[in-house]
Amino acid sequence: MSENHAFGVDVGGSGIKGAVVDLDTGEFVGDRIKILTPRPATPDAVAETIVEILDRAGWAGPVGVTLPSVVRDQTAHLAANIDPSWVDTDCAGLFARHLPGREVCVLNDADAAGLAEARYGDERARAGSVVLLTFGTGIGSALLHDGELFPNTEFGHLIVDGKEAEHLASAAVKERKELSYPKWAKRVTKVLRAYEDLLWPTLFIVGGGISRKGHKWVPLLENRTPVVQAKLRNTAGIVGAAMAADQGLRP
Ligand code: BGC
Repeated sequence: MSENHAFGVDVGGSGIKGAVVDLDTGEFVGDRIKILTPRPATPDAVAETIVEILDRAGWAGPVGVTLPSVVRDQTAHLAANIDPSWVDTDCAGLFARHLPGREVCVLNDADAAGLAEARYGDERARAGSVVLLTFGTGIGSALLHDGELFPNTEFGHLIVDGKEAEHLASAAVKERKELSYPKWAKRVTKVLRAYEDLLWPTLFIVGGGISRKGHKWVPLLENRTPVVQAKLRNTAGIVGAAMAADQGLRP
């Protein structure tokens, strides 16, 4: 085990994924391990899955864990896309029971992606007022100023056109409603307009699985703020979680 390695776990709606991360490069060391998210994805069921991932990886060092939730003082406060029993969960207590004596840092999934992008990704993430958005089951947000994170923004829940932004324009909505890229891009434009009118960022960075097909929709956006694809794609959550573990970050 090198001191420049840490373990990150990304808890998502469909899979829980973990890997050892080389903190010098932001790359995975060895394979990413993925286990389907248990149903229901209660705190104990998710924690047991994380223990299994760590066992499979043979990892005994510090661990960072992302959640699709506001995480303040290691307490989860929201559960829009995860089992409702996470609301008010004391994550420090949860992991003290499942991983006794281990150092575990829990943080919001999009915040982890923002930290990772600012350190290892597009250099433009490190300067100015940047909003990084992840499009998946929901819309996650990370607000960065000169690379520093303002944690726990929840822009996916802003009301746009009478609906929560993530109910209008997440990747899951595109799939469910079988929207074409041009139709979906119109919805994303609306959401980004609401954000740019409130925040006047210098740049949007778009991530999440659908950013891999960014060439099909990013050029269709009609926002005044430049929009670029995240450099780190589906590794960002794990890498950010590992950074949190390494730095003892508990936003
Ligand atoms: C959650 C956020 C999360 C985002 C992406 C939203 O529904 O409230 O905390 O970052 O989904 O997973």
